[in-house]
Amino acid sequence: MQPRLSIIVAVSENGVIGNKNEIPWHIREDLRRFRIMTEGKTVIVGRTTFEQLRQAYESRGKLLPDRNHVIVTNQKDYVVSLPKCFVCHSVQEAINKAKSIEKDEIFVAGGASLFAQIIQKADRLYLTKVHMVVDGDAIFPDYSRFTRIISEETHEEKGIRFTYYTFGQ
Ligand SMILES: NC(=O)c1ccc[n+]([C@@H]2O[C@H](COP(=O)([O-])OP(=O)(O)OC[C@H]3O[C@@H](n4cnc5c(N)ncnc54)[C@H](OP(=O)(O)O)[C@@H]3O)[C@@H](O)[C@H]2O)c1
Repeated sequence: MQPRLSIIVAVSENGVIGNKNEIPWHIREDLRRFRIMTEGKTVIVGRTTFEQLRQAYESRGKLLPDRNHVIVTNQKDYVVSLPKCFVCHSVQEAINKAKSIEKDEIFVAGGASLFAQIIQKADRLYLTKVHMVVDGDAIFPDYSRFTRIISEETHEEKGIRFTYYTFGQ
């Protein structure tokens, strides 16, 4: 059986996912959920998002462990000398690589360019709707093809309300 191809993202009310290479909110519970959901699985990321993740987690000593990272870049000489990290040079190559190492679920975790290229291929969408309107330069693409809500759960942290949606088709 093929692994499921899922997108995991947090999006503001006005469609923003990032600003100047940063996520414009800090919701610990959502980050924790990301860690738990992707643990033991395979994550595909664009090179920019990978470098963000690496910076965030290397300050604590290591990249998110216990998961594979497949990184997409156009740079032929881009090297990542870390365990369970694989560099690919197209989205299709990244999906093929992920399928070759993952049995269960592949998570596409950003950024905007990766989401735009994969939204039409994804089987599932885990979307945290952050109930804020924020400025941003990275926008989530149209996801109207996901019409079926599998689950929906609203939470609040430090005055920020957010809803975890799981969408299928
Ligand atoms: N809210 C969220 O859930 C969330 C999650 C992740 C990221 N973000 C935000 O998203 C923003 C980053 O998004 P982004 O679009 O700028 O960057 P990105 O998608 O993370 O990475 C873009 C890079 O990926 C590589 N790439 C993309 N498509 C490719 C293809 N078809 N073939 C080969 N390489 C390809 C290129 O790398 P090279 O330049 O090396 O060629 C490109 O510059 C940030 O603001 C970040 O905070 C938000």
